[in-house]
Amino acid sequence: MSDDTQHLEGPIGRRTRSCATELVCRDCGYRTASLDSAFKCPACGDGLDIDYDYERAKATIAEHGLDDRPWNIWRFEELLPITSAAAQARVGQFAGQTPLIHADRLGAELGLKNLYLKDDSTNRPSLSYKDRVVGMAIARLVELGKDEVGCVSTGNVGTAVAALAAKAGASAYVFYPGNMEKGKAKACRALGAQVCQLAGNYDQANRACRELSLASGIEFANITLRPFYAEGAKTMAFEVVEGLGWRSPDHFVIPAAGGTLSSRVHKGLNELEMVGLAETAGTKINIAQAGGCDPIATAILEGGEIEPQTPDTAAHSLAIGAPGDGPLVVDAVRTRGGSAATPTDPEIWEAIDLLGATEGILTEPAGGTTIASVAQLAARGKIGAEETVVAIISGNGLKTIQDHPEKDWPEMVACNLEAMGAQLDGFRRTAATVA
Ligand SMILES: Cc1ncc(COP(=O)(O)O)c(C=O)c1O
Ligand SMILES: [Zn+2]
Repeated sequence: MSDDTQHLEGPIGRRTRSCATELVCRDCGYRTASLDSAFKCPACGDGLDIDYDYERAKATIAEHGLDDRPWNIWRFEELLPITSAAAQARVGQFAGQTPLIHADRLGAELGLKNLYLKDDSTNRPSLSYKDRVVGMAIARLVELGKDEVGCVSTGNVGTAVAALAAKAGASAYVFYPGNMEKGKAKACRALGAQVCQLAGNYDQANRACRELSLASGIEFANITLRPFYAEGAKTMAFEVVEGLGWRSPDHFVIPAAGGTLSSRVHKGLNELEMVGLAETAGTKINIAQAGGCDPIATAILEGGEIEPQTPDTAAHSLAIGAPGDGPLVVDAVRTRGGSAATPTDPEIWEAIDLLGATEGILTEPAGGTTIASVAQLAARGKIGAEETVVAIISGNGLKTIQDHPEKDWPEMVACNLEAMGAQLDGFRRTAATVA
């Protein structure tokens, strides 16, 4: 078959080297062709996952090498589900490949010599890890030849959908729950999306959006396109391991809401091993959740199944009480080893300040949850001083700064030498007590 006719769906054109084969249910084994529009298993209702021909992926990666690959989310296209090169070229060209930073100053505070931050607060175009997953969903939308997309969001999916749909030339409809940072909804509107806030929490909004997507036939990035969306999160694992010179870290510390990122980092690590790029079996996955919404962390720490919760936390982007991928996360942590932490909201705000003051990175409460969790895991001896730890900073604090606790500051100081000199003395006294 020629390159021009090989892919089964979407606009005709050059095919990528994607080695995706089928949609598969990990629970009951149901399989269907990847052109199928199903996103849930018709037999058991579980979410569908995407399967690959790993032998072919291994051979293709070996044949093409790593030198001429793009530095974006499409770098390991063999292990991603998009088959239309045109769809792939339309979005995500600047997503992914965020900095991997040796956090020496923060590490010194926490007693960790080899602490790294994967800084997705700088992700493109919308400053969160969601650019990876939504990049995949919007490419799929383009591949399907559609030009309308909806989403339900705790905050960041919405801004990613607004930005990436704009670039793809698609109309974006964003549905937010009642309790979220308004700045994110405002950003969506500035990006040209239609935005609606629903009178319910995320889990209620999610159920309603599912009904709406089925009734309207409109694709929803994180509902009907979910099998494709989720695959984007694997790029986090690929980039971290390559960034560490193909040495997988001892630990990931990953914030979890629905559980897509943490479960797909697990899948991505497994795939790196299957295609012969790195040995990843020794890497543990640790989960960060806010104490006010910690269904996944509780199942990990106490054993047993996930019990849905009603969220009550300032970490709005992590406030999912019934996490769809939660069981996959629990399974990943039990398989690989790892643990979980559940900091309180005051601990999360304190961690945001600590990260800012030591590494110069302003994160949102999801990132504060991760850093507070690293501190707790280190204090509990779950992470050793010499071990290599990668903590994922998944969102940017500029998007949520209006919601951060107020800090007193001198406003309207007289604009003269005397008043400013006195102020400077005050600054120096404060700086000396903080240091
Ligand atoms: C900033 C940020 N970090 C982490 C997550 C967790 O994502 P997941 O649903 O993949 O667990 C989210 C989800 O909304 C998020 O917005
Ligand atoms: Zn099934």
